Amino acid sequence: MNYKEDNKYLEIVDDILSNDEFKSLKNYKHHGINRYDHCINVSYASYKHAIKHKYKTYKEVTRAAILHDFFLINNQEISIIKRISVLFTHPRTALETSRKYFKLTKLEENIILTHMFPLGIRIPKYKESWLVCWIDDVLSIKERILSIFKKN
Ligand SMILES: [Fe+2]
Ligand SMILES: [Fe+2]
Repeated sequence: MNYKEDNKYLEIVDDILSNDEFKSLKNYKHHGINRYDHCINVSYASYKHAIKHKYKTYKEVTRAAILHDFFLINNQEISIIKRISVLFTHPRTALETSRKYFKLTKLEENIILTHMFPLGIRIPKYKESWLVCWIDDVLSIKERILSIFKKN
C-alpha cells in the first residue's frame, strides 16, 4: 500500500506532513531522491514493521523515523569536508529542528539521535532505535541504487 492511502499512518504524522519547514525537505537532495521522500520511506517501513510485530510504541517509532533526517543543510552546497562532518552531526541537528516544532518523548529523541550508529559514538538505547537505524541503512542503499538505475 502507498502511504498516501494509509489513513492510520497519515493520522500519526499529519502535523509533521503539514509543517512548512518539514515540507521544505523536498528541496534537499538525499541518497539520489529528496530528503522528504527519504524520511517518509523510513517512517512508513518502520511503521509497518512496528505494527506487524505489535510494538506498543508504534506511534513513537513512526514519528521519530519521519523526523530522523529533519535537518536543513544542503549537501550540494557544502564542501566534502563539511559533508563528512554533517554525517556525524546531523542527528543532533535533526533533533534540535524537531524539538522546535514537536514535543518529543525520550524514546523518540533516542531514535533520532542514534540513527547513524555506528557513525558517531551514540549507541541506540532501545530496540526501536536499533530498528530505525537498520531500516534507514537498508533504505538508503536501496534509494541510492534505484536512483542510479533511474538516471540511466
Ligand atoms: Fe541520517
Ligand atoms: Fe536517513
